[in-house]
Amino acid sequence: MNTAPLVHRHRTAMVRHTLSQPMSLAVRHGLVKEGITVFDYGCGQGDDLRALTAAGVEARGWDPHFAPHEQVVEAEIVNLGFVLNVIENTAERQAALERAWSISQKALIVSVMIVGAVPLDGLRPFGDGYLTSRGTFQKYYQHAEIRAVLARAVGVEPVALAPGIFVAFRAPEDEQEFLLERRRGRRSSTSGYATGRSRKAVIARPELHERIQAALAAMAEFALRRGRLPHAEEMPSSVHDVLARERVSFARAVDTCVASTLDCDAFEQAGRDSREDLLVHHALGALNRTKSAARPSPSMVRDIRTHFGSQQQLAEEALEYLHALADPTRTVAAMRECADKGLGALDEDQRLLINAERLEQLSGQLRCYAGCAIHLSGEVDDGHIVRLEPMRKRLTIFRLTNQKDAFPAITSSVAVDLRRQDVSLRNEDRVLVRKSVVFGMSARSKQRKLELEKAKELGICSERAIIRRS
Ligand SMILES: C[S@@+](CC[C@H](N)C(=O)[O-])C[C@H]1O[C@@H](n2cnc3c(N)ncnc32)[C@H](O)[C@@H]1O
Repeated sequence: MNTAPLVHRHRTAMVRHTLSQPMSLAVRHGLVKEGITVFDYGCGQGDDLRALTAAGVEARGWDPHFAPHEQVVEAEIVNLGFVLNVIENTAERQAALERAWSISQKALIVSVMIVGAVPLDGLRPFGDGYLTSRGTFQKYYQHAEIRAVLARAVGVEPVALAPGIFVAFRAPEDEQEFLLERRRGRRSSTSGYATGRSRKAVIARPELHERIQAALAAMAEFALRRGRLPHAEEMPSSVHDVLARERVSFARAVDTCVASTLDCDAFEQAGRDSREDLLVHHALGALNRTKSAARPSPSMVRDIRTHFGSQQQLAEEALEYLHALADPTRTVAAMRECADKGLGALDEDQRLLINAERLEQLSGQLRCYAGCAIHLSGEVDDGHIVRLEPMRKRLTIFRLTNQKDAFPAITSSVAVDLRRQDVSLRNEDRVLVRKSVVFGMSARSKQRKLELEKAKELGICSERAIIRRS
């Protein structure tokens, strides 16, 4: 008989000597303070509640195992801390989220374990998560996944506080106020919040984040480069030396990095960038049939797991990317967006001219388009400008004789025909008349003025950036 394993959810509740990370962030950002009511939904052993109450905050909580007889009541701030990830039943997860939101008058803070925080080796897959050797269940969310789950359940876009930790506000004014304060860098101290659990007396010494600052900086640098938290083996020995000297575990250092060092907005952006880089890389690999694309490094495997969940999901999304390339209207729409951001000049024939050095700043779809062509033509070095011509399925690379000239001359070009998979060289006799736009110079630059005068002199009011020499 196939019986479902018994999951001991309460075993996930730990003894806390300090505030939990979401509660600590709520205090630091001024969401939780004296005079504000708090409800901890799924409060575990209640250490957060004890610390808040001792600090003068009116805090109550409920937990199906540790505090089943407490009443579930409304409060300004409701915390659903690391609860969703221990529930193996998806309908029950949803019910817990909805109930927590229903009792929150001002804001709901939701935190979950995220992919990458702990190694998954040796865990037994179960449902959409894993069973641990202690008989507990853990689902590891992707940061973007829990954001979407929360947004769908509460009907507002949540704000990220840290990886896997979000706050959803009921009133847009409260959210704006919070964002402004955060931007101003205002932070409250959590030092008055003790859980009351006895601990050996500690001699006053620098705080943990000060003692392991060098290690935290390296971890944050990695996190902002790859859009995910590092694994122990991805950090250099200098980081491990610092941690060993200070007797700090790697997992604790990662937690400290998230709470004290990592800029959450920048981390989210890094996640999005990293995701797009992987898509472009994979799409180009599939298109050019590079064998190495099928053999990602261990770090890339972690990137893929974090940003896509699986290799299969990445492959499907990359395929969708390639389909989009076959549709010129989608490519043109992407080009218009890039041109509006000041990335190159779009002309009336729906062609985008851009400095080759700025190709990497294009959106993923356009990087794919350019990547396909450049795979055929070979690398493009500095001193070139590139024209994307999706309506004709072409890309042309122009060589500038002297980039420093106000109107650089073009004497040769390489045209890549994506339909015929062919490359042809041509002699040209043209000039670049809109260098300021192609190179993204300021609208008030001297160059822009020169170009306007030149256009008047030539009697041209066209959008063309390159014209034939008469
Ligand atoms: C990992 S602990 C987190 C406890 C506490 N929030 C903290 O951060 O220390 C997860 C808690 O969720 C509780 N729990 C399990 N199912 C729940 C449900 N359906 N609704 C609310 N809490 C639940 C468990 O009893 C457990 O105490």
